[in-house]
Amino acid sequence: MFDVEKIREEFPVLKRKINNKKLIYFDNAASTQKPKAVIEKIKEIYENCYANIHRGIHTLSQELSDEYENARKIVANFVNSNFEEIIFTRNTTESINLIAYSYALKNLNKNDEIIISVMEHHSNILPWQFVSKKVGCKLTYVSLNKDYKINVEEFKEKINRNTKVVSITHISNVLGSINDIEEIIKISHENEAIVIIDAAQSAPHTKIDVKKLDADFLVFSSHKMLGPTGIGILYGKKDILEEMEPFLFGGDMIKDVDFYSAIWNDLPWKFEAGTPNIVDAIAFAEAVKFLENIGMENIEKYLNELTKYFLDRFSELRKFKLVGSRNYKNRAPIFSFIHDYLKSHEIAKLLDLEGIAVRSGYHCAHPLMKYLNLFESGGTVRASLYLYNTKEEISYFFDILKKIENNY
Ligand code: ALA
Repeated sequence: MFDVEKIREEFPVLKRKINNKKLIYFDNAASTQKPKAVIEKIKEIYENCYANIHRGIHTLSQELSDEYENARKIVANFVNSNFEEIIFTRNTTESINLIAYSYALKNLNKNDEIIISVMEHHSNILPWQFVSKKVGCKLTYVSLNKDYKINVEEFKEKINRNTKVVSITHISNVLGSINDIEEIIKISHENEAIVIIDAAQSAPHTKIDVKKLDADFLVFSSHKMLGPTGIGILYGKKDILEEMEPFLFGGDMIKDVDFYSAIWNDLPWKFEAGTPNIVDAIAFAEAVKFLENIGMENIEKYLNELTKYFLDRFSELRKFKLVGSRNYKNRAPIFSFIHDYLKSHEIAKLLDLEGIAVRSGYHCAHPLMKYLNLFESGGTVRASLYLYNTKEEISYFFDILKKIENNY
């Protein structure tokens, strides 16, 4: 049973007041709040069992090394991957950069093509601009269909035998659209391109099974799914990772170092140079356990209910316009909208005065804003919901939007 009140009890920050109003946290696509289990785990390690890992024979180091590798096991199980295919990075951005540097720079040449979509976050655009400029290859964009999803028909027309990399988002951080990634992965493989899935917004919302999806790489961040900041995940197929050169060089990623050469460590450690973010990786595993205890299917079902309710209520507004699909089956509870007269930052400020946290502006997606003709006007307001949000909060949110409509 999904008991939202019980879940809310686990998040101390939800008791806070902002501007003398009860906090309503609708900025989850930017970063989620943390449950007690995650906060306490971090405190417990620093108080009782902290040491560096993989480097000490002493008990503290041995114990924490085991916990760190166990955290990797928990994350691997969560997405149904093998242990050695999970690499801890800093965040989704670093994971994509790792692929760009270690895979794409080495394997692409000037006759090749990279395909991304117009709805990508900057972190899934800039590394590909860099690669395409560096090797002189083509960067191609796929646009959106009328339901604000990546246009698969257009993708089919654009992909060809020169396409070597397809890198797309599963769920848009601006529009909430859920893309048809199964189909895109299949078409990419038919054309012998590798596929990278940006799952930063989808891993918190839905069950990810990397074996079933068959993507070559899949990346996401701890902090968007109840875990700490500073921990990201790179999943990659073992045979591809084996062929890749390391991204960063230093301690722990080697088996042996000579004066002019070195032998790299096995996977996954080949890609984890230097002392890693030990404590946050272990605390991320606590977040994953928290999500698994509730059940990703239950979370998805609850988020669908919130999505439907939000969309129903949105149709009551006159001066606010939704930027995204109105079909709750096609989307996650990430809602961008604009007002006939007010700028996005002005609305966000008015909402903050009522205790409501949202994001406003361009959401690290300038090309998408330009594509949608929303750049000059200052972008959108974005309300993004997660498992501790309630229908009551949504109802209050719409009361405030109606008040704003009456005043402006
Ligand atoms: N990627 C995060 C967002 O969409 C920061 O807000």
